[in-house]
Amino acid sequence: MLNSIQTAGATLGLATPRKPWLVPLERVLDLAQLPVAGGPAIALEMQGEPGQQRQSPFLFDPDSQGNLAVLGTSGSGKSTALRTLLLSASRDAEQNPLHIYGIDCAGGALGMLGALPTVGGIIAGEDGERVARLMRHLVATATDRAVRYSALPASTLSDYRQVSGNVSEPRIIVVIDGMANFRSSYEFRSGDTTFAALAQLMSVGRQVGIHFILSADRSGVIPSALNANIQQNVVLRLASSNDYGILGVPADILEDAPAGRAVIDGNEVQIAVLGGSASLGEQSVAAQQLADRLRQTGIAAAPAIERLAERIPLSQLGADGGRAVIGVADADLLPVGIAPEGLVVVTGPFRSGKTTTIKTFVRTTLRDGSQTGPAGGEPSMIVVESAGDFEGSSAEAVVASLIKAARKD
Ligand SMILES: Nc1ncnc2c1ncn2[C@@H]1O[C@H](COP(=O)(O)OP(=O)(O)O)[C@@H](O)[C@H]1O
Ligand SMILES: [Mg+2]
Repeated sequence: MLNSIQTAGATLGLATPRKPWLVPLERVLDLAQLPVAGGPAIALEMQGEPGQQRQSPFLFDPDSQGNLAVLGTSGSGKSTALRTLLLSASRDAEQNPLHIYGIDCAGGALGMLGALPTVGGIIAGEDGERVARLMRHLVATATDRAVRYSALPASTLSDYRQVSGNVSEPRIIVVIDGMANFRSSYEFRSGDTTFAALAQLMSVGRQVGIHFILSADRSGVIPSALNANIQQNVVLRLASSNDYGILGVPADILEDAPAGRAVIDGNEVQIAVLGGSASLGEQSVAAQQLADRLRQTGIAAAPAIERLAERIPLSQLGADGGRAVIGVADADLLPVGIAPEGLVVVTGPFRSGKTTTIKTFVRTTLRDGSQTGPAGGEPSMIVVESAGDFEGSSAEAVVASLIKAARKD
């Protein structure tokens, strides 16, 4: 067909027409081909009129775009795109300090990023305790920054860095890979504030340099309250033409597209990969090399979001003023104590740790709390194990008056 057209063209003496279609984008594009500065570059896009086309990098501009969603069906390249964004931003961490946190609800694809000094933690989606701790850290940071930025005033992190001269203030990027699983874990969990915190952070984060990158199979997976604060979509291959319609992307562009091919702002793009290879092994070698290089340049490690230990030796417990320390706080992992005075009640079901708690309390009262004894006298403490067992016995009245007396103090 093409040949007969060419022959006809030649016979008629016509000039070779220019190609109205785009130069094919590479199937695996090396992130090394994209610029380091100017905001994390994640893809190459074709831009301009046919004939004057140029390939220009797509840069995510967090100050103006705030939060970003990566949408695509399974295997379309979502996790890879998230990694690319984080690696790309990390490449520039010396000029543009950055802390990254990942919540992995999609099978461990973010794990290889853990080696980067910019990464403060890749948390498994089901680890509710650490996820909650991360959210508290972010809310506290956002609150602190909001006060400092508005005092200047500064309306973005870049503004703040410029006006205050504090150029080391880090940008914070949080990725959630697998929003469907994240929602089913947290959206309707009673008494859990994680989801509400996410919604709040996504609405105030852009102005204080805290940004969220979410991935989902389709746009409907992201609840409208969050969607309202997503300023940028990266659309990979989707499962149904309906899904394209909702996002305003012509279905034919991506229908048979290879993994990593996406549409951003109406332009067809190819998402880059660190190491220029689709192989996970080669990507993690490249990620490790980047991690080593960043460490050598002296990039400080991002604050870690730790796990609460299941066992803490008493000897490792610090002090909490003059209080008798009984453990560490879930919120900040700092020692927490109780004032050893008046009546202290330890309750809990069978084998929940009541006796152990009392033992710890007695020991740390002797260790930390001795100054709270009665003036001039020795501290005194009476421990009643299983106070309820005295009910109905001849000792009940004595125990009851003892408790009453302690409560009065
Ligand atoms: N940008 C890309 N360039 C080249 N190949 C890619 C790209 N993104 C993904 N792939 C290929 O597709 C596979 C699936 O990608 P992945 O990111 O795990 O998809 P998803 O997270 O959407 O399920 C990868 O293992 C890789 O082989
Ligand atoms: Mg994935």
